[in-house]
Amino acid sequence: MLVEGTPYRTVWIEADGESVGIIDQRRLPFAFETLTLRTAAEVGVAIRDMLVRGAGCIGAVAAHGMFLAARECHLGGLSGAAFDNRLDALAAELRATRPTAVNLAWAVRCQLDELAPVADPHEKVVVARDLARRIADEDADSCRRIGEHGLSLLRDIFHQKGGKNPVNILTHCNAGWLAFVDHGSATAPIYAAHDAGIPVHVWVDETRPRNQGARLTAWELGQHGVPHTVIVDNAGGHLMQRGLVDLVLTGTDRTTWTGDVANKIGTYLKALAARDNGIPFYVALPSSTFDWETADGVADIPIEERSGTEVARISGLAAEAEAGGGFPGEVEVNLVAKGSPVANYAFDVTPARLVTGLISERGICAASAPGIAELFPEISPSRESAN
Ligand code: MRU
Repeated sequence: MLVEGTPYRTVWIEADGESVGIIDQRRLPFAFETLTLRTAAEVGVAIRDMLVRGAGCIGAVAAHGMFLAARECHLGGLSGAAFDNRLDALAAELRATRPTAVNLAWAVRCQLDELAPVADPHEKVVVARDLARRIADEDADSCRRIGEHGLSLLRDIFHQKGGKNPVNILTHCNAGWLAFVDHGSATAPIYAAHDAGIPVHVWVDETRPRNQGARLTAWELGQHGVPHTVIVDNAGGHLMQRGLVDLVLTGTDRTTWTGDVANKIGTYLKALAARDNGIPFYVALPSSTFDWETADGVADIPIEERSGTEVARISGLAAEAEAGGGFPGEVEVNLVAKGSPVANYAFDVTPARLVTGLISERGICAASAPGIAELFPEISPSRESAN
């Protein structure tokens, strides 16, 4: 997508062919900065400390981290079992950085499987670099196709509404291009509709505690010229009751083969409000976000618990700085009474029964085992997990 007119992806191999470029999402929307990562450990820090975030993006960045890991093994003179053992250890470190999004483990596994039969250490590095690029390209292409499928949904709603007024979409967190490699999942249909001349307006949940909606989704939509309004997380139900939301469209960090959707904390409440108001609730995802081994998302998806500091504090650009008053950086302030304990659950699970449909690169399906199986007949989920 374009940033001030220049096309960017969220991860790339730098021109030297030896290092990896990323966008430092922590600085957005107040500063757009890119960083160069040279080791697998640096990639691990970038994922854990959320310089990069979002299921598809951390999967693609982890794939690039595995390229750097292979490179380190080669430069360290390792070969044979010693190379593979060290690579396994670096892979485990990358996998441990974030527990909920399944794309991370998926991308690391793809790299290990691809490299296992390759004997020559230099060749392993070349293969890992190629696969990292391929995973990024496939993520971008999947999101583009999600946009095409979702576009028909938005077009239908536009016509059902009489073909005059904008389609009002409520989204949560950031499932935009920053959360993937390009286009985004939930935002891809929105960008496609906007580009096709269908008027859309997006209600952007601010998404406490880290405000990915206010900081990232709003910035992305603004860069692309999509009309949007940032709201507090608790406003969605009220807007739905007033008829101001035509559909809810979110991303997901992991979706079980039965259709349960793990996503940013607060998504479940939006799904409940949507159901109560008869509003469709769709979830967009590339197939790399499916968890083919877990049947019961509520019981079995690990929910990341993050530092309470994210809840107790908030940061932003000082208003005086925006007005040119001379405060150049972001400021962080305390919000919570001294001594009060805080808890910070980063994700929740929306049961499949509340999800109207899933939009994947292969099309739109019901959020159910048969619905998903129809789109992905070649995959046999681990059905023993259903017992
Ligand atoms: O904590 P984050 O920012 O890594 O949260 C993940 C997400 O980006 C959201 O849950 C998003 O809506 C899912 S789409 C990748």
